[in-house]
Amino acid sequence: MAASSRRTSVLLLAVAVAAAACSTASAQTRLGKLVVTGVVPCNTGTLIDVATSPAFPDAKVEPRCGGNAVAGGTTSRDGSFAIEADMTNALPALVGACQLVVDTPLAKCNATLPATGALVSYLQGPLGGMLSGVFRLTPVGFSFRMN
Ligand SMILES: *[C@@H]1O[C@H](CO)[C@@H](O)[C@H](O)[C@H]1NC(C)=O
Repeated sequence: MAASSRRTSVLLLAVAVAAAACSTASAQTRLGKLVVTGVVPCNTGTLIDVATSPAFPDAKVEPRCGGNAVAGGTTSRDGSFAIEADMTNALPALVGACQLVVDTPLAKCNATLPATGALVSYLQGPLGGMLSGVFRLTPVGFSFRMN
């Protein structure tokens, strides 16, 4: 009886070790996370100063890396947003080429502003993300672009 229960616990231990090894392996193949945070201004212009502009609530924002959308989100009432995306195989190489595109026209936050065109900003962050597996990017400055 005692021997069989010890065999059972050895078996359970083996299962636990195998499960731990598996989860470690899958954590290694996952390349990390992209975290994009910022505040969208309700304004036109070039390199808009977010601090002196009204906020843009309920704006659809889309980080694009190498021209491809990697995720999407919406700003909250104060114009801020936070987006997380899993790194795919191609993404780390493209982190230097990411932009944030605001898909909601400015007329939505201020009727006197254009109903076409979009705010766009390059995204930048510390390259130390390469070590921690978390790339944190923020907009460096929104500019209005006709499209
Ligand atoms: C709307 O935009 C116009 C033109 O930029 C500006 O003068 C006005 O103050 C804005 N209104 C609000 C409520 O921010």
